[in-house]
Amino acid sequence: MLENNLPGWRQDLKSSRKKEGKSPSNRWIQLATVDEKNEPRLRTVVFRGWHKDSSMIIFTDRRSKKIEHLKSNHNAEVLWFFLKTKSQYRFKGKISELSDSKNYWDTLSEKSKSSWFWGSPGERINPKVQSSCEKLSQIPKSENFVVLNFEIDSVDLLKLEQPIHKRYLWEKIKGWEKIEINP
Ligand SMILES: Cc1cc2nc3c(=O)[nH]c(=O)nc-3n(C[C@H](O)[C@H](O)[C@H](O)COP(=O)(O)O)c2cc1C
Repeated sequence: MLENNLPGWRQDLKSSRKKEGKSPSNRWIQLATVDEKNEPRLRTVVFRGWHKDSSMIIFTDRRSKKIEHLKSNHNAEVLWFFLKTKSQYRFKGKISELSDSKNYWDTLSEKSKSSWFWGSPGERINPKVQSSCEKLSQIPKSENFVVLNFEIDSVDLLKLEQPIHKRYLWEKIKGWEKIEINP
């Protein structure tokens, strides 16, 4: 733990993010879930900030496949890669839905809000549904808007460095002690 009680890996991550610069892609992470056939499923999502010291917020659509997966298996992994520092963070944990999503909805632009009124993700496109709320100026919170809380249990950081790569592991169960492991 750091002095301010944040898990130590938060400082490493902060430093990687800072060096990466202020690009929207700095917040793109890869989220893996396990489907009903016990097969891995992976997609890019946006990191929307921290809920608690070691839990991340992700917004999604209730009709998306990941919601089905999470109903039967709440285990997930998030991968966050930083090009400038050649750092790969692998976060393992569990996902639940936050019941109070209104405040998060209010942070979205009107353009972004409208995407929750598009047709069901993955279904055959219907141009009429696509434009259903584009003329509204104030968009009410969509029933499809879901805020996911990804509660992190462990963090595995691999840094490609010369002459030897570095790899560290933090586990919540071990009080987030930083352990150096073989790369
Ligand atoms: C750059 C980028 C950012 C994305 N951000 C999100 C996001 O924040 N939430 C989300 O649910 N899907 C996001 N998507 C779409 C997902 O990658 C995915 O296509 C969608 O969530 C459906 O996935 P699923 O059917 O496996 O649930 C993003 C895609 C890209 C390319």
